[in-house]
Amino acid sequence: MYRILRKEKLAPGIWLMKVMAPFVARRAMPGQFIILRVKEGGERIPLTIADYDRQEGWVTIIFQEVGLTTRLLAKLNEGDGILDFVGPLGRASELDGLKRVLCIGGGVGVAPLYPQVKYLWEKGTSVDVIVGARSKEYLILEKEIRGICNNLYITTDDGSYGRKGFVSDVLKELLDQGNVYDRVIAIGPLIMMKVVSEITKQYNVPTVVSMNPIMVDGTGMCGGCRVTVGGEVRYACVDGPDFDGHLVDFDEAMRRQRMYREEEQHICKLMEK
Ligand code: FES
Repeated sequence: MYRILRKEKLAPGIWLMKVMAPFVARRAMPGQFIILRVKEGGERIPLTIADYDRQEGWVTIIFQEVGLTTRLLAKLNEGDGILDFVGPLGRASELDGLKRVLCIGGGVGVAPLYPQVKYLWEKGTSVDVIVGARSKEYLILEKEIRGICNNLYITTDDGSYGRKGFVSDVLKELLDQGNVYDRVIAIGPLIMMKVVSEITKQYNVPTVVSMNPIMVDGTGMCGGCRVTVGGEVRYACVDGPDFDGHLVDFDEAMRRQRMYREEEQHICKLMEK
């Protein structure tokens, strides 16, 4: 069992859990994920590593209650154990050798963005960050990110905090102002990553997106994370989760992401009974 050291509610339905997992922590890198199983007979789900400490041996995960397993996970408390916690998996993000990077996170996508910002900052890279949320109460990790970047821009859809609008509005402004970045990294809902990639393509800024939102079992076997990149079939959990945002077929990915929605809603209803 992997003991939960800390549990914290970051926003409605969004939880942080610090889990004791020394073997995972020892080799974890930004961009990688773990697969966990809450209990015997349960499904396996992939969750991106949000933070880790090699010395102390813990790994942090941040997740949103969206399906059966994340709801079961949210019911666990500090001191409880998670049955399986396997990783680190996936390819680590390639972050070395960059001089100036713009990191963009939307919603719970800010969680996997955080270790990348931290890694870049520790390497001496100049980092600007744009974070977007539905409203102030859904904004996560603001304090943590503010301390490890040059500039932090916040947007909320409803204008309850930061600037009213979308991350793409700020992105466009920064590029129009002549800011030059070696790379844009975008993690969040597929539609956000699609819009960001369309804008950066016009300005010729290399852009990396994380396709972790489409992963299902994370093992390379279910085929759920199939994505077309530059006309070729790729699997987010094996070949990614990072891909060139200018080459990803987002429309196809969004269609595929909707495929399991009915089944998930059905099982959540059964669970509520
Ligand atoms: Fe199942 Fe990638 S998540 S094959």
